[in-house]
Amino acid sequence: MKKFLVIGNPIDHSLSPKLHNYWIKKNKLNSIYGKLEINENEIGELCDNLKQGKLDGLNITVPFKRTVIPYVDVLSGDALRTNSINTLSVNNGNLVGHNTDIDGFELSIKKLKYDISNKTIIILGAGGVVPSIIYALKKMKASNIILSNRTKEKAEELKNFYKDIDILNWGDLTEFDMIINATSIGLKENENFKIDFSKVGKNKFFYDVIYKPYETNFFKAGNQEGNTFENGLSMFLYQAQKAFNIWHNIEPIIDHELVKFLNS
Ligand code: ATR
Repeated sequence: MKKFLVIGNPIDHSLSPKLHNYWIKKNKLNSIYGKLEINENEIGELCDNLKQGKLDGLNITVPFKRTVIPYVDVLSGDALRTNSINTLSVNNGNLVGHNTDIDGFELSIKKLKYDISNKTIIILGAGGVVPSIIYALKKMKASNIILSNRTKEKAEELKNFYKDIDILNWGDLTEFDMIINATSIGLKENENFKIDFSKVGKNKFFYDVIYKPYETNFFKAGNQEGNTFENGLSMFLYQAQKAFNIWHNIEPIIDHELVKFLNS
């Protein structure tokens, strides 16, 4: 039986096991997918287990998407371009690091037929998934990317990597077409944005990387007539679909039945 794991800290909220085990069953594969909360000093051992065949694949989530890089033998192009890994596989004895978050984000936008080109986009947050979002936005020809993070140094670090992004003080707002919540605000129910969205105007696109609950705190903050909203479920599904394909060489199906199952 093949064994897969998602590792992170915290990991309790992760829907990855539910999703991957659903696809495993649908495709009648002899595999199992679990989750493990780890500390940073355990990453090396898990990577060794993967290389020795005790495990068959890993998904990496916050806060280890970058920490895992030194343990990897080969980085895919997307992982290299973002310094960020969310999927590990073994190929000819080599540990390969992939980034499927970029495709996940891009496919979620394409599904909505939203045209990113020439848009001004604010990203809130500077954590593990943000390099992938910036990369995908640039690929889709965003004209202006503005980063705002509570800890300004982390936004500045990202600016060293992506020189042409702008930085906005945390709590401030400026003109935008699309605003993305890539912070963890809303994962816990009582956390709220200390940003006033009441005067942003119409035709703004609010995109939240968080997908649970369906109407996230960011949705509530930006929910005004004339604005659109998308939560992070599509991005989550598409990044997982790519990872599944890397490990099993099968593109699993995303449909209403699956979404209903995940919400159950
Ligand atoms: P990591 O930063 O370890 O990669 P993450 O979940 O990807 O973890 O990122 C959390 C993001 O949410 C960070 O941008 C964090 O801001 P800091 O860099 O200042 O920590 C942001 N965040 C979390 N809680 C927040 C809060 N209460 N207010 C503002 N930003 C918050």
